[in-house]
Amino acid sequence: MAVITNVEDLRVLAKKRVPRMFYDYADSGSWTESTYRANESDFQKIKLRQRILVNMEHRSTVTNMIGQRVAMPVAIAPTGLTGMQHADGEILAAKAARDFGIPFTLSTMSICSIEDVAQGTDGHPFWFQLYVMKDRDFIERLIERAKAANCSALVLTLDLQILGQRHKDLKNGLSAPPKMTLANLIDIATKPRWAMGMLGTPRRQFGNIVGHVKGVTDMSKLSEWTSSQFDPALNWGDVEWIKKRWGGKLILKGIQDVEDARMAVNSGADALIVSNHGGRQLDGANSSIQSLPAIVDAVGKQIEIHMDGGIRSGQDVLKARALGAQGCYIGRAFLYGLGAMGGPGVTKVLEMLHKELDLTMAFCGHTDIETVDKSLLLPGTYPT
Ligand code: GLV
Repeated sequence: MAVITNVEDLRVLAKKRVPRMFYDYADSGSWTESTYRANESDFQKIKLRQRILVNMEHRSTVTNMIGQRVAMPVAIAPTGLTGMQHADGEILAAKAARDFGIPFTLSTMSICSIEDVAQGTDGHPFWFQLYVMKDRDFIERLIERAKAANCSALVLTLDLQILGQRHKDLKNGLSAPPKMTLANLIDIATKPRWAMGMLGTPRRQFGNIVGHVKGVTDMSKLSEWTSSQFDPALNWGDVEWIKKRWGGKLILKGIQDVEDARMAVNSGADALIVSNHGGRQLDGANSSIQSLPAIVDAVGKQIEIHMDGGIRSGQDVLKARALGAQGCYIGRAFLYGLGAMGGPGVTKVLEMLHKELDLTMAFCGHTDIETVDKSLLLPGTYPT
């Protein structure tokens, strides 16, 4: 096998190894995918200032996110259907994150359940992402399950009351598990590693949901199910209700606008995530890295700010940090590693990001991530 040196190598490999409907699910944005593309390409426009003859010994990327120590300012983002990229995907990624020393966030729409991940990581704390559904009894129980599993933060997603249209998911008939149509059987026949893994695990449907929500057994039509269960009337009063019920660290995900950022501060949350859901919801929205500085400017002293969207390298992590994000999240980057090589693929991604971050920081004349700020960027090349 060719030597893997960057996230793009893993993407290419994942595309070969993961059934098309699940690869496409991860690697899609909504409608024209312009926001999805901008999330990545806007990072490329930001230039770094090279400095020389600074003592580069004893470098550190260690910092904290919501008061928790992290080996680098990166967390694993909540991504739906992770256990369909690779058998037991959520457990494998959570273990890789634990061993590396960064947070893992489990999605409500995961294949492995909260309890599976808690058991698979020997009770190591992870973060849980909550989608609010109309059935509030179910949400109360989910919150209780997250507490029982020792989750150390709740990440509340606020930008998916309704689902953005991703053309490929509709064309592929996305479902978990996949329907045994001729097209799917032919596709899966060309992905034997994936199929063997799936045969070896009982975890093939939405583990947090199936068996926990009355009447929900068949979720095959994902987009239809989402539109019938997710709550389009979600509001700031619900955020308050969830904050009270949860009682622990709360992170609000999906903020793009300064006005919403101010509301997030008023809610008393511990952090907010500047995010456009990886370009999967409102196509045509600004890229996350473009949206970040104005939000940092407006509320950065009152609430901790994180970001996601477009992070494919350690250089991107450094740029986000320089523009005021205390930490950022990787979604597709870790999914490519997982789909390509399972748990070791996720570890590989974390190692590559760390190395890129560490070396780039040094080239820019810094040895400690805590000292990084805007002055490391070339004026006129970054958003303000
Ligand atoms: C769910 O979070 C999705 O973006 O598909």
